[in-house]
Amino acid sequence: IEQTLALLERIKSLLKEKNAAIVAHYYTSPVIQALAEESGGCVSDSLEMARFGKNHPAATLIVAGVKFMGETAKILSPEKRILMPTLEATCSLDIGCPIDEFSAFCDQHPDRTVVVYANTSAAVKARADWVVTSSIALEVVDHLDSLGEKILWAPDKHLGGYVQKQTGADVLCWDGSCIVHEEFKAQGILDLKKVYPDAAVLVHPESPASVVEIADMAGSTSQIIRAAKDMPNKRFIVATDQGIFYKMQQGVPDKELIIAPTAGSGATCRSCANCPWMGMNELQNLAQSLEFGINEIRVDESLRLAAMKPLQRMLDFKA
Ligand code: 13P
Ligand code: SF4
Repeated sequence: IEQTLALLERIKSLLKEKNAAIVAHYYTSPVIQALAEESGGCVSDSLEMARFGKNHPAATLIVAGVKFMGETAKILSPEKRILMPTLEATCSLDIGCPIDEFSAFCDQHPDRTVVVYANTSAAVKARADWVVTSSIALEVVDHLDSLGEKILWAPDKHLGGYVQKQTGADVLCWDGSCIVHEEFKAQGILDLKKVYPDAAVLVHPESPASVVEIADMAGSTSQIIRAAKDMPNKRFIVATDQGIFYKMQQGVPDKELIIAPTAGSGATCRSCANCPWMGMNELQNLAQSLEFGINEIRVDESLRLAAMKPLQRMLDFKA
């Protein structure tokens, strides 16, 4: 404990010394989320991380999340130095959508408006007409559908299918998925509902359709946290990364939050519903990155300018 406290103090003084702020995602560890908040940074979903980083006056942002979040910060704030605790923290959606194959897919469907999820590389974003996060995807696609546009969606097939169902738009989907959310099982949730019939089911729409179908509410991480406050239920079954429980529980201290069952649930499962890449963010590597300026995110300038257009379109859509 003493070591951790010393590390926290060192990071706080480094943040001041380097004129830096921490931008963290809800899936990082509680200690990182608490540090981000205490030190004047933010803990949020991926849309608010992008907005916060762009608007914050710090010269350096340290992005505690996964690589696409660091790249998004750099694309929107080229004048800032963007550091990450590790550059190894990626995302199965990003990995599953390599630019060459994606570009060829777009070339085959020139009549479609290309909408990509934020969980993609800068190169994939640069090929898109729109970037969306899960908190704004429905509204953007609904808007495009009302203009009569047909959509090419990538990379998450589950979120794409959900968006298609909700909006009725013509959506052609890339075949990608999140290794964390894909593990949630509808049958396990239904079994748990028998034990806790009063519990409402809150799910992230990266989960399979069978899971989203039985949900009382589907939405982004911040929308899930809000739903727990707004809904009258005293108990929730939650299908998203367990990291969310830290902030969620603070908002509803008198309510019970239960993680939804996954394929690996049971006594043998220590890490279910925990994104392995988000877990790579630690106090130690965060401190080192800040102290020595290592793990800096760089994005080629022409790529950055191309990727900024669809990202800025998203931020302007709902300012
Ligand atoms: P949110 O935008 O809902 O925070 O989601 C990001 C993410 O990676 C979910 O797995
Ligand atoms: Fe990517 Fe899934 Fe991890 Fe989110 S939880 S960063 S979508 S692998």
